[in-house]
Amino acid sequence: MQIISISSLKGGVGKTSVTLGLASAAQAQGIPTLVVDMDPHADATTGLGVRQDAGTEDVGTLLSHPRRVSLTDHVVASGWTGSTAAPAADGDGAGGPDGGAPRILDVVRGSSRTSLYERPTTRQRELRRLTQLVEPVTRYALVLIDCPPALNGVTRMAWAASTDVLLVAEPSLFSVAGTERTLRALDLFRKEYAQGVTSTGVVANRVRPASVEHQFRLGEMERMYGDRLLPVAIPEQGNWQQIQGAAWPVHAWPGEMAAQSAALFDELLYAVQRPLKDRRSQRRH
Ligand SMILES: Nc1ncnc2c1ncn2[C@@H]1O[C@H](COP(=O)(O)OP(=O)(O)O)[C@@H](O)[C@H]1O
Ligand SMILES: [Mg+2]
Repeated sequence: MQIISISSLKGGVGKTSVTLGLASAAQAQGIPTLVVDMDPHADATTGLGVRQDAGTEDVGTLLSHPRRVSLTDHVVASGWTGSTAAPAADGDGAGGPDGGAPRILDVVRGSSRTSLYERPTTRQRELRRLTQLVEPVTRYALVLIDCPPALNGVTRMAWAASTDVLLVAEPSLFSVAGTERTLRALDLFRKEYAQGVTSTGVVANRVRPASVEHQFRLGEMERMYGDRLLPVAIPEQGNWQQIQGAAWPVHAWPGEMAAQSAALFDELLYAVQRPLKDRRSQRRH
């Protein structure tokens, strides 16, 4: 099971958008996926069309007693069309948690309660709370963890539970420099507390291909991050707020612009699924 934390020190760079785009690509490809919304703002939960669901707890509550609960009892189906597959003809599908049709895209709801864990800590007991929740889960091939815009307790907990960390950066001076610092913090943290992280990457978001400044910054990112810069850069897209506001997967949104975005997220999902050493010949701008 691949567990990817989508992180950045800065807010508004596109962590949630990248999480939703990857979730949409995974759903379109039929990859059983769980989104864990670790941001107290809970934007991924909103973007996935999930409402408060009686009988399930949000991730902040689950983190308070990770050994006493089963995470799969508290997942909810995303509200996106296509999240629930047709039942297998022989009735022997993977089965949703409720025993209904197998589900492709599930969510552990976020809530402001997660902010209780934002304090910086190096205590294993604190850092392993999410690992304890996720470790017993086998139903999914992919877990996407949408992180808050900080490197405190919650993001570190997410990193400790992950196999991959994907940093999102904009091609601007401060974002490039901040991401470099985040990579260094991640490398230090990995050695001691997150040895399960085998791959770290950076994806550039909100790129304006016609901007000379953006092209310059992309070149700088390539020099600074080397092979860690993923071969897919996500452009600034005019219709994203509309798609996200409607809580739709980009793969189901009509029009050529959405189709191009969907294809890019397919490429990004493919890139993050490949080991770092295989990415070398792939980069292009
Ligand atoms: N590539 C993009 N093109 C257009 N709008 C974008 C893009 N990436 C993010 N946005 C918009 O920017 C805002 C912040 O993005 P978001 O994904 O919420 O960032 P974060 O999760 O890092 O705080 C949102 O309104 C989102 O729709
Ligand atoms: Mg966000």
